[in-house]
Amino acid sequence: MIPSLREVYKEHFRIGAAVSPITIKTQKDLLVSHVNSITAENHMKFEHLQPKEGEFTFEQADEIVHFALSNNMVVRGHTLVWHNQTPPWMFYDREGKVVGKELLFERLKAHISTVIQRYKGKVYCWDVVNEAVADEGNDLLRISRWSEIAGMEFIEKAFLYAREADPNALLFYNDYNESFPEKREKIYKLVKSLLEKHIPVDGIGLQAHWSLTRPTLEEIRLAIERYASLGVQLHITELDISMFEFDDHRNDLIKPTDQMVDKQAERYDQIFSLFKEYSDVIRNVTFWGIADDYTWLDNFPVKQRKNWPFLFDENHQPKPAFWKVCTC
Ligand code: XIL
Repeated sequence: MIPSLREVYKEHFRIGAAVSPITIKTQKDLLVSHVNSITAENHMKFEHLQPKEGEFTFEQADEIVHFALSNNMVVRGHTLVWHNQTPPWMFYDREGKVVGKELLFERLKAHISTVIQRYKGKVYCWDVVNEAVADEGNDLLRISRWSEIAGMEFIEKAFLYAREADPNALLFYNDYNESFPEKREKIYKLVKSLLEKHIPVDGIGLQAHWSLTRPTLEEIRLAIERYASLGVQLHITELDISMFEFDDHRNDLIKPTDQMVDKQAERYDQIFSLFKEYSDVIRNVTFWGIADDYTWLDNFPVKQRKNWPFLFDENHQPKPAFWKVCTC
């Protein structure tokens, strides 16, 4: 008998998975057995929900929300403001000129209010702003249409509009490379400054797209402690452990070696033991998928390279990592 992950972790945090309208069918049994939190991998992003100004398309997001709620799962909303997967119309006026702040904020407010209000009482938290911080260099913010037009203000406005639309939803700032010291300090600084201005940020999302060795366990611990010191809650929002190091662009591996599989098991073991130590602040641990038959890493950062980042294999059977996570 295979234990249920969400049962194993019920005293600690929710267990989640990112899904699509396809995987809620092809991976249904695993999802229903093991998770109690659902994130739409793509279908709540701006380009999916409002591809043309004023024309909202909610069907597929609704389908995902319905799947979650009818299986006693909560929904994490992902994501309202991002530099990717936002349709170009957002940034141009009717003459094709880049919009000014006023129009940008008007459109932002319309998007956030419409989306959040539709899912009021159904989506318990939102990644309001995703990946706004620069990976390198002295600038705090990444260069994007958002920051070019509105500096820091787009972040502040997004959280304010979100709070207004649903005062009960938890509002998150979400980012990747979150455990590396340089970026960690920038994310910390950003969220600290938002809180000092009374911008309603309830949590920080650590995407956790990690490899077999990086970030180190110590770096992860320090990131958790640093973010938690702001008094916000933490969610692990997009966990996957790639079989390849970040700079390894090989694409000739047909299946992982036993050594890689064991290393991944050990890594998952260490990571979940660490999460458990901090389960007073980490309230949700979501995988960016559920089983190795489908992962975005099959196409990123190397196109058409298979990867095996999860606890379940391509046939939905538990891997050594699963058993470690159940007993750590
Ligand atoms: C990814 C999806 O998994 C892909 O299917 C899509 O093509 C691109 O976006 N950080 C995020 C997620 O916040 O939204 C991204 O999801 C992965 C990186």
